[in-house]
Amino acid sequence: MDASSSRSDWWKTGVVYQVYPRSFADSNADGLGDLAGIIEHLDHLDGAGPGSLGIDAIWLSPIYPSPDFDFGYDVSDYVGVDLRYGTLADFERLVAACHGRGIKVILDLVLNHSSHLHPWFQASRSGRTGPYADWYIWADSPGRTLLGRPRPPNNWRSWFGGSAWQWDDGRGQFYLHGFMPEQPDLNWRNPDVRKALLDVVRTWLGRGVDGFRLDVFNLYLKDAALRSNPRRIGRRGAWSWQRHVNDRNQPELEDLLIEIRGLVDAEPGRMTVGELFDSSIGHGAAYSAPHHLVFDFLFTTVPWSAAAFRAAIATREAAFGPKRWPANVLSNHDQPRHASRNDVSGGSGVGGVGDARAKVAAAMLLTLRGTAFLYYGEEIAQRNLVVPNAEAFDPPARRAGLFFRWWNRDQARGPMAWRPEPGGGFTTGKPWLPLPPDVDVRNVAAQSQDAESVLSYYRRALRLRREMPALNSGAQEPVEPGDPDVVAYVRRTEGQAALILLNFASRPAAVRVPAAAAGGTWRVSLSTHPRGPDEALGGSATLAPLEALIAAQA
Ligand code: GLC
Repeated sequence: MDASSSRSDWWKTGVVYQVYPRSFADSNADGLGDLAGIIEHLDHLDGAGPGSLGIDAIWLSPIYPSPDFDFGYDVSDYVGVDLRYGTLADFERLVAACHGRGIKVILDLVLNHSSHLHPWFQASRSGRTGPYADWYIWADSPGRTLLGRPRPPNNWRSWFGGSAWQWDDGRGQFYLHGFMPEQPDLNWRNPDVRKALLDVVRTWLGRGVDGFRLDVFNLYLKDAALRSNPRRIGRRGAWSWQRHVNDRNQPELEDLLIEIRGLVDAEPGRMTVGELFDSSIGHGAAYSAPHHLVFDFLFTTVPWSAAAFRAAIATREAAFGPKRWPANVLSNHDQPRHASRNDVSGGSGVGGVGDARAKVAAAMLLTLRGTAFLYYGEEIAQRNLVVPNAEAFDPPARRAGLFFRWWNRDQARGPMAWRPEPGGGFTTGKPWLPLPPDVDVRNVAAQSQDAESVLSYYRRALRLRREMPALNSGAQEPVEPGDPDVVAYVRRTEGQAALILLNFASRPAAVRVPAAAAGGTWRVSLSTHPRGPDEALGGSATLAPLEALIAAQA
């Protein structure tokens, strides 16, 4: 049996590693990462040796042909591979290499919108009749503005600034784009579109992928009558001046999700994770199902404070309840990297306070109830790049200004720092984005040599998570730690318990240790700080500054 199919509960117990292919590893010196580069670095990821992370799956951000108006999130061929990343044969090699090591492969499906250069849109915009005429969301203008321009059909906004409607002279109509005008929204209500997009799902499943990340899945369906969103006042930015009830989260979505899940679940061991776009955590919980996770992004915006994280964890647990399974993520290609977010001094170096916080964050990510998602580079606490908006590649950053605020997503997409050499081990050419400025001291090779590095900690914590059912599948109970700067909880399965104590403060913290179950003792399994082997914890313990401690009940 293929090693990769031996654990069908990996969607729940596992850890998924997000690769942003453009920035991970470049095998052909063109400055862009590629599939062959990923294959060359599988030793870093898989669980076979002590020098590897030991993740369960990789999620690849889009690898399809794209004119890059949103760096792959504008797809011009859903079943092809962008030549800059390789060929379909390279992709098949990657899948085989991953499966041979027991690593699952998840693709990023961008099915809410395509590229404006997709042949479907080209055909659709060519006229109001013809087989593709209704493949996108076209609408007439209800009249003229005071300036004499066509008025958009309703008040829906683009997430990337301005109206969500773009006038098309050819058709004399508007088309809808929830993101860039170069990303027209597909019309999922058209049965031909639905069939074509579900065929995309079938095609990639047929090529052996183990699941999908579904980009902005809760936007697939909009109000059929295209009614405006109700207005609301008193908030910052035009986006928030309306309640987004008609441009997302429509009741008919449930039926579509059931159909997608049916395709994916036809073989055991496959999964999806849906990207919940700008909606409440209640929606996130409601859309989740066994084998089908939802990213709610709760933890990506929480400031560095134990109280804030305790509250976020309680919110999450209340929304999901004990039966639904959350997805935990601290960083991704859209958000600032958490190692930078949490490094208040803005640039403490290797081994400094920022790295100590990164370890606490890692301990939390890998021990909270839920499937954990790592973003490439976070295992070395890679920091944000500093790219001024004027030099940004990120399309909304280029549009940003006084009336449209945006953070530059290039900052989180910097080339992976592998080795202390020109090109950082990422490329021998000119990297598409600058290398992180600290690449010479912060890289995979250097951190592999250092037992106290963030990378060494990730490796140990990942191993412990794999070995301990309480950590990868247990129920979770909050613990009152007796110190406001500490987050504490217990994970428990029938036969095992783990206690997690996280000191968010840069001072020692005296904590109350909850009683272990009858006759048992908590013994330290892993700490970010020196502790005696199997040290037993009594009724109270002192945590070192920024110590993350995981204890198991013997
Ligand atoms: C998702 C992606 C983001 C992209 C957007 C539009 O939010 O994560 O990178 O810009 O969808 O596809």
